[in-house]
Amino acid sequence: DRGHYRHFMQKEIHEQPEVIGRTLSRYVDVPNGQPVLPVGCNFADMDRLIIVACGTAAFAGRVAEYWFERYAGLPVKVDVASEFRYRKNAFMKGDAALFISQSGETADTLEAMRLCKAAGLKTLALVNVEHSTIAREADIVLPTLAGPEIGVASTKAFICQLVALAAMSVGAGIDRGKLDEANAAQLISELNAAPRHVADTLALQAEIEDIAHNISRGSMVIYIGRNAYFPLALEGALKLKEISYMFAEGYAGGELKHGPIALIDEDVSVIALVPDDEMLEKNRSSIRQVASRGAHVIVVADPGSAPKLSNEAEVLITAPATGTILTLLAQTVVVQLIAYHVALIKGTDVDQPRNLAKSVTVE
Ligand code: F6R
Repeated sequence: DRGHYRHFMQKEIHEQPEVIGRTLSRYVDVPNGQPVLPVGCNFADMDRLIIVACGTAAFAGRVAEYWFERYAGLPVKVDVASEFRYRKNAFMKGDAALFISQSGETADTLEAMRLCKAAGLKTLALVNVEHSTIAREADIVLPTLAGPEIGVASTKAFICQLVALAAMSVGAGIDRGKLDEANAAQLISELNAAPRHVADTLALQAEIEDIAHNISRGSMVIYIGRNAYFPLALEGALKLKEISYMFAEGYAGGELKHGPIALIDEDVSVIALVPDDEMLEKNRSSIRQVASRGAHVIVVADPGSAPKLSNEAEVLITAPATGTILTLLAQTVVVQLIAYHVALIKGTDVDQPRNLAKSVTVE
């Protein structure tokens, strides 16, 4: 039931504060501010975590790669399941494998998991559908509690995957002796604040609708980001092409000069995801590179980076959240809303985009 919402996707975007809270309750002991790892989920003994998934779920894995490295010093390899299952994987002693899937039925992800199991790896599955095949066959099931996702474009499942992965990376950091108590507590407090900040981000809708009109008049959209915002750029571009059918790509900011900048002209919108972090000056330079070539630049900032970038962008959207994890979650909502509003303007079938199915159970 869509309730008073026009689309399931819109409803699911708005459910995010609630489902983030529900998912967090599984991974965080809120009164004590401690991450809680599910039984058997032992990161201390792991030498490498292999993350395998498809589409949006794989982008959640690529965001988590930065987090596991940064907070837990854990080597991570991420692959899309359709490649992983057909390559000659060089496994190592101490490898464990994590599969991420909303439906728990994606054929390539399931086969990749079976292959790892057969190779003797411990298999963890982060799934939204509890009674799915992937959940049934995994050694350890890590639930996201997003509830049924009907819109073909994944939104609330993705953000719940991020939240669970963030909590796990903090737990892994503690287990592996890489995060001290104060740093862990800070990250956990960011996660606890996520429902409120995501709700505040939803209030940017009118602003984003305006921007969507400009974007929809252009020929294509290029998302750029660095660090964990690079996979978020990929996700922003995927969401946009899926439901609005506009051509969109995501690039690491530093890659522009290695080719993509040749695409830039006055018809291109560049959406730069720029938090107030150690990459800010690098991001500024990427923005200047595309602005000087005529691109219509939209900067998605946070309260720290916004004043530093106000002279760089034609349009600045400030996601109301600070902190490494929290800003990324807030910016996730911004890229979802951009895709949604561009699709509304284009008049596409938002919940059932052409050529796509919700669950890809065949190759
Ligand atoms: C994009 C989208 C897809 C899925 C992918 C994996 O919005 O929904 O890219 O993320 O098909 O599906 P699951 O997570 O069910 O394995």
